[in-house]
Amino acid sequence: MVSYKEVQASNALINDVTAPRVAVFVGGTSGIGKFTIRALVATGASVRIYLVGRKSSEERMHAFIQELHAINPKAEVIWTEGEVALLAETKRICEAIKSKESRVDLLFLTAGYAPFGTRTETAEGLEIAQSLEYYSRMLFILHLLPLLSEAEAPRVVSVLGGGLERATIDLDDLDLKKPGNFGGVKAQMQYVAMNTTTLEKLANDNPNVTFIHSWPGSVNTGNVRRGSDPNSMWAWFVWLILEPLIGLLAFSDEESGQRHLFQSTSAAFGGRGVPWKGKLGINSLEKPADGLFLVNYKCDCTPNAKVMPLLREKALGKIWDHTQEVLRPYL
Ligand SMILES: NC(=O)c1ccc[n+]([C@@H]2O[C@H](COP(=O)([O-])OP(=O)(O)OC[C@H]3O[C@@H](n4cnc5c(N)ncnc54)[C@H](OP(=O)(O)O)[C@@H]3O)[C@@H](O)[C@H]2O)c1
Repeated sequence: MVSYKEVQASNALINDVTAPRVAVFVGGTSGIGKFTIRALVATGASVRIYLVGRKSSEERMHAFIQELHAINPKAEVIWTEGEVALLAETKRICEAIKSKESRVDLLFLTAGYAPFGTRTETAEGLEIAQSLEYYSRMLFILHLLPLLSEAEAPRVVSVLGGGLERATIDLDDLDLKKPGNFGGVKAQMQYVAMNTTTLEKLANDNPNVTFIHSWPGSVNTGNVRRGSDPNSMWAWFVWLILEPLIGLLAFSDEESGQRHLFQSTSAAFGGRGVPWKGKLGINSLEKPADGLFLVNYKCDCTPNAKVMPLLREKALGKIWDHTQEVLRPYL
């Protein structure tokens, strides 16, 4: 475990030289993304942050941006409106960022929710949570990789369930569209495994970029409630049992933000970034080198060594082919 003191000591070293100077946050309008933006801005470093979110959050975000400017006048936060569940919108947002920036240092991806309700599709025919937690995230990465490659210590962080992959992924129905094949836990595990396999492929193809798939543990953001059908048994269970339990076990907002800022900046993961004197993290290929890091809520890395070889052998090719097919019109 990386202690909270070590995390804070590392984050205290973030300055104009070591900070991610241009950062894109997708999902920074609430929860872990928002806490991490606050922690980054509070370092006092000169940063430019693209805060991507939907229209319904715009008003709230004006107040948040004012708060951030008061904390650190050197932080420029650019509100970037878009419906990121839609791949056409994701493409439009990326094009807008590409037209303004020549480099991106950090891409931080947290949009999504636990899909414990009825399967609902976007206008593009994708299950909403799968689009937010997988397809849209991968599309952001693919569009912004050329800009990430221009940075000195570029990093992509996808927050979902790194290290929790299971080998039981449904390869015959990757989008869980077949009647009766969709369920909350199954869907979330499917999206976790799809994240990890594709991120590992992208990490192998782009060794100059550090990739992290983070499992945040329990953070009391209301995320578990977002996907529930109102008045369902599940919604009652969440309200009466799960949320009070999360409230007891959860990290504070502040610690979650600091831990994710550490994951976004420390050289503990791959050797690039804010200097780290401790042991280097092990990547998904069990090496203390660059690549993909599966990082848990204690900031420990796991190669998930029992499952990853099976996913590489049996799932990676199918997931990558299918993903390319889905994303092709938006690349
Ligand atoms: N919190 C935890 O304990 C925990 C544990 C394990 C995994 N995770 C996963 O980690 C990720 C981040 O979690 P979090 O707790 O930070 O989540 P959160 O506070 O609920 O924030 C989720 C983000 O997704 C956006 N979003 C949700 N539904 C959307 C939609 N239909 N269209 C567009 N944007 C939408 C939200 O935008 P708005 O602000 O506009 O609503 C917000 O920016 C999620 O994928 C979550 O499932 C969380």
